[in-house]
Amino acid sequence: MKNNELILILDFGGQYNQLIARRVRECNVYSEVVPFDISLEKIKEKNPKGIIFTGGPASVYGEDSPKCADGIFELGIPILGICYGMQLMTHVLGGTVQKAQTREYGSTQVEIENTSSLFQGFENKNNFLMSHTDFVSKVPDGFKTIGKTLHCPNAAMENTKKRLYGIQFHPEVNLSENGTKVIHNFLYNICKCSGDWQISSFVEDSIKTLKEKIGNKKALCALSGGVDSSVAAVLLSKAIGKNLTCIFVDHGLLRKNEGDEVEQNYKNQFDINLIRVNAKNRFLSKLSGVTDPEKKRKIIGEEFIRVFEEEAKKIGTVDFLVQGTIYPDVIESGLGKSSVIKSHHNVGGLPDYVDFKEIVEPLRNLFKDEVRKTGLELEIPENLVYRQPFPGPGLAIRIIGDITEDKLNILRDADSIFREEIFKAGLHKSINQYFAVLTNLKSVGVMGDERTYDYTIALRAVETTDFMTGVWSKIPYEVLEKVSSRIVNEVKFVNRVVYDITSKPPATIEWE
Ligand code: XMP
Repeated sequence: MKNNELILILDFGGQYNQLIARRVRECNVYSEVVPFDISLEKIKEKNPKGIIFTGGPASVYGEDSPKCADGIFELGIPILGICYGMQLMTHVLGGTVQKAQTREYGSTQVEIENTSSLFQGFENKNNFLMSHTDFVSKVPDGFKTIGKTLHCPNAAMENTKKRLYGIQFHPEVNLSENGTKVIHNFLYNICKCSGDWQISSFVEDSIKTLKEKIGNKKALCALSGGVDSSVAAVLLSKAIGKNLTCIFVDHGLLRKNEGDEVEQNYKNQFDINLIRVNAKNRFLSKLSGVTDPEKKRKIIGEEFIRVFEEEAKKIGTVDFLVQGTIYPDVIESGLGKSSVIKSHHNVGGLPDYVDFKEIVEPLRNLFKDEVRKTGLELEIPENLVYRQPFPGPGLAIRIIGDITEDKLNILRDADSIFREEIFKAGLHKSINQYFAVLTNLKSVGVMGDERTYDYTIALRAVETTDFMTGVWSKIPYEVLEKVSSRIVNEVKFVNRVVYDITSKPPATIEWE
């Protein structure tokens, strides 16, 4: 890769660590998150332009509190310590960290010295997010205080000679006004970065590197229609053309017209060598009578591998298997727990079953928003690049109870109406995931003069950034009314529509 500049982010276990890395990249500088105890040798090898210490839940006086490598402050590399990172810097360099009586939490006014390079362009008061109990009561020798709040006498400090900086607040969160500007100032004024991390050059360089690496050999990719695998496949296809074969296993559990759309997109627009396997019957017969959600997932995961394996065998040995792994899946957390990788992310361990020599993961260093930018750069249609997440087991986990073809058709029609109306109302950009669920519940209704006894459709719509937590979306009543009346009128065997008004937690996004 052409980018030469690197910012290392030492992870002390704070909840916003990945956000710091993303903010740095938004400033066009490449960043990597590494465990806090990375050795001096490794740091020297990586030759970063600067280092950021993240926050974390520990106290510097705690017995097992995480420490950085000895000598890190003598490397001559600029360091910015955030929250715990600032306290650690203080503690190691001879200042004093103290426990406060009360925790300072929330958006807090900080009086800053805007003559400092870190705060260039700031007014002398700015609101930042504070979230701490311990604080720096005395800065180490050679440091100067450049920020304070009502309760925190040293909310920011600097040692310009050694290029060491500390801030008690969190510049990386949206709640901090001009937070990214603090990071920008650190990168450009202090680390003297030039900003060589651009998605356009990432795409150009990746295509070149992949061409050199794969040459005339053969690569195989499992295409789901999701954003990551799509971007990986298109990138590969730009590099090696028809030497890439994509296998798209259509398990028959996709949304209305989705299978055809995926096929058309890849064949027509990108001229990709695509094999679509229509395996609906296999999946439905395996799923027949199964009601337990985890069993459904397991059956689908296993069958998926089997179908893929059979198709891959027909192709014979391939040299490379392409995977759409992205950066959040590979970051190793600073506190030794590797980040949770959902089992479905790698399509349940494909590598064991396919005859290949090496894995290529062209998106391994990218965050999701960068994957999307890469997709746009590759001219993948916007509706695909910003596609809402769709679970691997598909509609199988949106039909409560056993799955039949009839139920799938009912759900597909209802879901398609819901999505169409959300789009028409312009809500698709603010709601992160929205879909219909076929509850296994039948209830009494009346249509014309007839009594009906039909299914209840539940609508689900959530707003979230990480899909770990989320709130139910306050869709305007008129939109809900339109969706409800269209569904009961247009979809046979449905006589009732309900809206799910539970957030996550305690509910999950999917019903199963
Ligand atoms: P939950 O329901 O756990 O969902 O709140 C969080 C996010 O994960 C997606 N999800 C899945 N994705 N296979 C997948 O590929 C699965 O088995 C699965 N279950 C949930 C869900 O759609 C949401 O985006």
